[in-house]
Amino acid sequence: MSFRDVMKEFVERGPKCRAETERASEHLPLGSPGGLGMFVMPHELYVERGEGCHVWDLDGNKYLDFFCGDWTAALGHCNPQIVAAITDQLTRGTTFGLASGDLGPELAGLIHDRLPSVEMIRFTSSGTEANQNALRMARAFTGRKKVAKLSGGYHGSTDELTIQNAINKPDDIPAGMPVGARESLVLLPPNDIAACEEIIEREKDDLAGVLFEPVMGVAGFIPNTQEYVDFMREITAKHGILLIFDEVVTIPMGTGGAQGYYGVQPDLTTTGKVMGGGTPLAAYGGRKDVMGMLDFRVKSPELPNMMIGSTYGGMPLCLAAGIAAMKQLTPEVHAHLDKTGDYMRDGINRLAAKLGVSLQATGVSQFTGIHWTESKVVDYPSFLTSDRDVIRNIMYALATHGVIGTPMGQFLNTTPMTSADIDFFLEALEQSLRDVDLVS
Ligand SMILES: Cc1ncc(COP(=O)(O)O)c(C=O)c1O
Repeated sequence: MSFRDVMKEFVERGPKCRAETERASEHLPLGSPGGLGMFVMPHELYVERGEGCHVWDLDGNKYLDFFCGDWTAALGHCNPQIVAAITDQLTRGTTFGLASGDLGPELAGLIHDRLPSVEMIRFTSSGTEANQNALRMARAFTGRKKVAKLSGGYHGSTDELTIQNAINKPDDIPAGMPVGARESLVLLPPNDIAACEEIIEREKDDLAGVLFEPVMGVAGFIPNTQEYVDFMREITAKHGILLIFDEVVTIPMGTGGAQGYYGVQPDLTTTGKVMGGGTPLAAYGGRKDVMGMLDFRVKSPELPNMMIGSTYGGMPLCLAAGIAAMKQLTPEVHAHLDKTGDYMRDGINRLAAKLGVSLQATGVSQFTGIHWTESKVVDYPSFLTSDRDVIRNIMYALATHGVIGTPMGQFLNTTPMTSADIDFFLEALEQSLRDVDLVS
């Protein structure tokens, strides 16, 4: 087979999806109602339903789903406890705009148990909003104007945060930036302590916060080194810069998120995705003195009060789903996710060695990235050496074998997955490498 044959097969198994892509594209850019549009060429996969670790498209094709609701459904689709919690809340009202019952304190408590650095929390509807607000809080708290992010770091769709976000080409400034957006952003090279030190020392008097993913997500599921994360904590503390961990993706990484894994307490944390049990829920939180600025009952001589609204932020329906999700993520469940993740990465690397191909897996816990390069992928520059077209071709071939992840080659394991599912994936991967002529 060749890539052309793979695409032919992809098209042939999806006549309804293809027709739907054409119909939907009339009023929806990319034929997609909201997200990025994942499999837009030659047609999108329109999912009819999901259950556990599988989804079915309009044509009745079944997929082992490693995309899992854009990394939100770590407990699988239609998880019974989450369905029950949502159904129960639905009968009492979805949202009131007023605080409702004890859902807010309960979820805040569950997050605090996991991430003790989150002393106070404010819920939002998206990770983008959470990051945007956290940065504004940092600027207000420090009185400084600039913020820093890592090259390759993905933090959602806020203007300056879309620069070098691993989806755009590295040197592109996305269209539509407001005045000053680029100038107010400091870019830091991941995992390069010397270069970061020089930049932060130069910018320290203007720098309000450093926002970063301890484990880079969209940039290939690449963990930063312990030394680098420790260094970031030290240098930000030294200069009164707020350290903000973006744990939108990594909150289900063990019982303590990425901050527990590295043993580093940030000043602020943003989170979302799995925390909302597959509903639109995210949050920013952290130190009481910083978050306290949101409480306008308390006037401080040094600090301003902040008014940050969000119509759907913390709506009861999502809080109920989030509570049901977080309660199920027990140490045993995390151990299972870690185990299937390790099994998957080992399997990919063993397969690559057996076939003598330039494929490699990165990642930790339930997060896995695949890359096609001779270089060892340890950070954003080495991630950029991976041939994205090859990875995309593999992902299309995988879809024809009933497996989906992101077309950039990222996979998130979910709790219903067993080692038999990972074996199924590994067989599909080997076949896919052959399909697109990467193995003779
Ligand atoms: C690390 C990280 N932060 C923030 C976001 C943005 O979240 P949302 O899409 O909910 O705005 C994402 C989305 O993928 C993400 O991966």
